[in-house]
Amino acid sequence: MKKSKEFIEPMGSWKKTHSCGELRKNDIKKGVILMGWAQSRRDHGGLIFIDLRDREGISQIVFDPKDSAEAHKKAHIIKNEYVLAVKGKVVSRLAGSENPNMPTGEIEIKASQVKILNVSDTLPFNIDDKIEINDNLRLKYRYLDLRQLKMQKNLRLRHQVCMEIRNYLNSKSFLDIETPFLTKSTPEGARDYIVPSRVNPGKFYALPQSPQLFKQLLMVAGFEKYYQIVRCFRDEDLRADRAAEFTQLDVEMSFVDRDDIFNLVEEMFAYLFNKLFNIKIKIPFNKMDYQEAISRYGADKPDLRFGMEIINLTEIFQKSSFKVFGEVIQNKGEICAIKVESDKEFSRKKLDDLQLFITSFGAKGLSYIKIKEGKDFQSSIAKFLSPEEIEKVKLKTNASPGDLILIVADQEEIVYEALGNLRLKLADDLNLVNQDKKEFNFLWVTNFPLLEYNPEEKRYEAVHHPFTAPLDDDIKLLDTNPLKVRSKAYDLVLNGNEIGGGSIRIHNTDLQKIVFKLLGIDNKKAEQKFGFLLQALKYGAPPHGGIAFGLDRMVMLLAGASSIREVIAFPKTQKATCLLTDAPSEVDQKQLKELYIKLDLPQG
Ligand code: AMO
Repeated sequence: MKKSKEFIEPMGSWKKTHSCGELRKNDIKKGVILMGWAQSRRDHGGLIFIDLRDREGISQIVFDPKDSAEAHKKAHIIKNEYVLAVKGKVVSRLAGSENPNMPTGEIEIKASQVKILNVSDTLPFNIDDKIEINDNLRLKYRYLDLRQLKMQKNLRLRHQVCMEIRNYLNSKSFLDIETPFLTKSTPEGARDYIVPSRVNPGKFYALPQSPQLFKQLLMVAGFEKYYQIVRCFRDEDLRADRAAEFTQLDVEMSFVDRDDIFNLVEEMFAYLFNKLFNIKIKIPFNKMDYQEAISRYGADKPDLRFGMEIINLTEIFQKSSFKVFGEVIQNKGEICAIKVESDKEFSRKKLDDLQLFITSFGAKGLSYIKIKEGKDFQSSIAKFLSPEEIEKVKLKTNASPGDLILIVADQEEIVYEALGNLRLKLADDLNLVNQDKKEFNFLWVTNFPLLEYNPEEKRYEAVHHPFTAPLDDDIKLLDTNPLKVRSKAYDLVLNGNEIGGGSIRIHNTDLQKIVFKLLGIDNKKAEQKFGFLLQALKYGAPPHGGIAFGLDRMVMLLAGASSIREVIAFPKTQKATCLLTDAPSEVDQKQLKELYIKLDLPQG
């Protein structure tokens, strides 16, 4: 018997006539040539069946010695993932053997000739959507992982999303303009990836965290409507929705206010949903002030697919005899609650788990009141509560028998963060979101604060970025109460995920300098870091603003995937390594020498 490799043949003049996913009943009797991978082989005595797969789907090929003894003989040596070219005729499947789960399930191809274009070693895992494959293995053999139907679907969806975005923005006269990768640091809040310059010893480029400054310069240059689907690089802690290199749909416009940008984006999403899924989404999207989002949902990206809002009980406990509550109020903290309407009993253990959960957000404790019939209740702080307080809590939370009220008393930020996260956890635990419903809940969160205080570094930081304009009405507070200044920044939230963020920018050098100063960037440093921007703003910068979307996040949500890695062809691990290529890796001494770099690595 010949070795399988010896069967490998060239394609010769054979040309693929159809994809493996497109043949139907009305193609019966057609002569076809299909090319693809052997998904599986079944040997049924006289007949051999091979499922041939390409990116469009699967066709069943039948090898019958009566049709071609030679093809049938070759079919014996075909193994999974061999690459084949099959010449044959489309026939209808025998009555009773149709497969309604396969788009091509009514037909099969009777093979008259087969060429083995290549063989394959046994794969480290089967190409089968239904089996769980270890994540690291998937990343190491990503080119095989990508053969899976679900991955092919995800990347195809990504392509379609990009294509329709381009179609839409092109129809609105946007220009796609590229901006540099080897550039100066752009402050988006993460660490930079830096690249040494060989020809400028001791100097480094930074890979852009976003094209922010360049898109503003393009507005100064008069391009008026810019977009780019562009890679961004951020050296930050990675999570399911964050990658070290990710893609933004970046947009900037001149002579616009916030609502012009909102309109454009809403229309773009309506267009996308219509084109991709034939779904009509409701526009305009709802808007919510940042402060309201925090006080009602404890998050600047609230998921509005379910209720369970935060309820402020501070007023009720003003005169509480409970020492813990009294101290919190004295220290200007807050006492807030969420109400769980559930017929599920919460065991002691479950309540202890929730308690543990909120301590990870800095909260010291979680009190509960379980409302019962009449005046009856059960509570972890029963002995400190007066009947009046209980009645008031019931009234304020609109509680009915069976409801569970979970209370956190602490400093304001801790209370909202803890309850915001508890709300999400409970929604998850209690299945409050019907995942099958395919709900798309968009929300604009507006009027973010301009600055926040970093107590460790004892200075203000930009909540969005330093180029965001303050609200006109709040400019006067820049001198007196900077933390009260609201900005013209906005985020777009989809089902509790921040999918985009942007702002109207400062287009005036003096105001930009004032904001830099508040951020602790003095004139000298501003000149050094952003001199080019300050200069450009002096030469007739138009009013402008924009937004950037996390394309990976958007596609992840549209695909119903749980991590952006599922929609990125070659993603990195949580530790920003590439298991496929083994990047990052050491470089040889010669390369380092050329760059005048000496390593000083930690021991061990
Ligand atoms: P921002 O930093 O908010 O704004 O980023 C815009 C959007 O990009 C996505 N995103 C990420 N996606 C995956 N991995 C990451 N590490 C990551 N970081 C951010 C998010 C986010 O909403 N220049 C400004 C935009 C502007 O002002 O126009 C900017 O980059 O979905």
